[in-house]
Amino acid sequence: MDNDVLSPAASAAEAAPAAVDADLDWWRTAVIYQVYVRSFADGDGDGTGDLAGVRSRLPYLAALGVDALWFNPWYPSPLADGGYDIEDYRGIHPMFGTLADAEALITEARAVGIRTIIDIVPNHVSDRHPWFQAALAAGPGSPERERFWFHEGGGDAGELAPTDWVSSFQGSTWTRTENPDGTPGEWYLHLFTPEQPDLNWNHPDVRAEHEDVLRFWFDRGVAGVRIDSAALPVKDAALPMLPERPSPGEHPHVDRDEIHDIYRAWRAVADSYDEPRVLVGEVWLEDAARFARYLRPDEMHTAFNFDFMTQPWDARAMRASITRTLAEHAPVGAPATWVLSNHDITRPVTRYGREDSGFAFDRKRFGTPTDLALGTRRARAAALLTAALPGCLYVYQGDELGLPEAELPLDVIEDPMHFRSGGVDPGRDGCRVPLPWTGSGASLGFGGDDAAAPWLPQPAVFAALAVERQEGDPSSMLLLYRDALALRRNRTDLRAGELTWLDLPGDVIAFRRGASCVCLTNLGAAPVALPPHTGILLTSAPLADGMLPPDSTVWLTVEPAGEESA
Ligand code: GLC
Repeated sequence: MDNDVLSPAASAAEAAPAAVDADLDWWRTAVIYQVYVRSFADGDGDGTGDLAGVRSRLPYLAALGVDALWFNPWYPSPLADGGYDIEDYRGIHPMFGTLADAEALITEARAVGIRTIIDIVPNHVSDRHPWFQAALAAGPGSPERERFWFHEGGGDAGELAPTDWVSSFQGSTWTRTENPDGTPGEWYLHLFTPEQPDLNWNHPDVRAEHEDVLRFWFDRGVAGVRIDSAALPVKDAALPMLPERPSPGEHPHVDRDEIHDIYRAWRAVADSYDEPRVLVGEVWLEDAARFARYLRPDEMHTAFNFDFMTQPWDARAMRASITRTLAEHAPVGAPATWVLSNHDITRPVTRYGREDSGFAFDRKRFGTPTDLALGTRRARAAALLTAALPGCLYVYQGDELGLPEAELPLDVIEDPMHFRSGGVDPGRDGCRVPLPWTGSGASLGFGGDDAAAPWLPQPAVFAALAVERQEGDPSSMLLLYRDALALRRNRTDLRAGELTWLDLPGDVIAFRRGASCVCLTNLGAAPVALPPHTGILLTSAPLADGMLPPDSTVWLTVEPAGEESA
């Protein structure tokens, strides 16, 4: 590191408040850490992560400096889609623990300054959910079937699916049922796997049930919900065929206009609490104006910004994405979110180490040439870049360790995306591998010494990336994250200051935050000179003769008076 690097004002542990910040606008600038429970830490040694494991690692999360945890679905589930097939929205999967464990975790996290966000899945339930089981048993025409989308097939004998809709996991969105006498029966709709039947949101029971589920968790101290597949729950009840080029709101199952009523009702529930609860939407929409509608003041607080995450490592493309994102949020007054990855996406160090460094689901393949050293360098730069952008920051577990995507043996993969692609797509399990906590031991500290093997095998490269190995290494990804989050927490300019673009030469992204902080990322091939500054707060790579080398980011302090707006 360069000599004039200032050490962060305090260690993250010192900086973290003892209990959560009372600021009701905490979600506007929060750092939210995503916990994929199954792979975070295994408290009972059965090879699967659990709530006991998370509780034991709360000091780690507090020291990292995060404001909230978002838990992927932790409910009872047959795990046909990693828990996004929920059997009981008010319970905890027995392999993760009990409801009492969840309550203890929520309380303990809050005591160390960390709020809890849970995942709510409104579009579909598990086929083992009591409502779907009752619907199957009750048969065609029954009120039980009205809560789903059961329909007769087309063709002479009902042998054709009712529509030509395509599942998000490939194939048809319809599966045919069997009548009790063994004859083929009605079809039912599932935008994902057949084990995830879609709910009918025109049905009052569906609406009432979800509002009650929200209250159930909010009453237990949950600070907010991440809403799964949030643009999908409402369907066109006429079940038309797919239009060729649907205009906004015309698609039969994406972003229907009526969907906003649901979230307005949820917002009313969230706002009825003394500390209003927060709604975060998983909204995959290309149309910026349609996306922003979900963030109107009486709907969701924030939604994931996936646009930036899909960009290749390219200054122009990334800067354009940042500009687009800020512009689309401005009219509704909602903060942007910055997301480098999640449990569905190829890990950043792998993505940025590839020639095609953008992300698209249909381009995932095993065996793609990857330069992990380059990818790691860029992921470090991207971590500082996104942490310096205005809004809320998400960190997916393991990204703070620089874990690469794992190329798993095919016979251990569980993800339905893999199977429904006929084995062409490796699926998403490669970013869901259990975390390495220690550099040695059977499961690299994921479980105790005598623990069962982790549910997915850890690649050999994980040992060197274990938390224990990185703790003492000032050049590690973990310490970069800790320093960055501590600085962001302690410097109002960096966390909450206005963004002003700086027009600097080269393939760079450069902006000032507030009066006195500058973030500069070099995405070009040659080192770039630093603009005038009073100090260097943090760099993702050592400076070279005072210049910022390729694929790196620096945070500077600057003289407030000397600033010019771009
Ligand atoms: C969301 C989740 C993904 C899941 C899908 C269906 O996209 O992030 O993991 O498979 O919804 O629930």
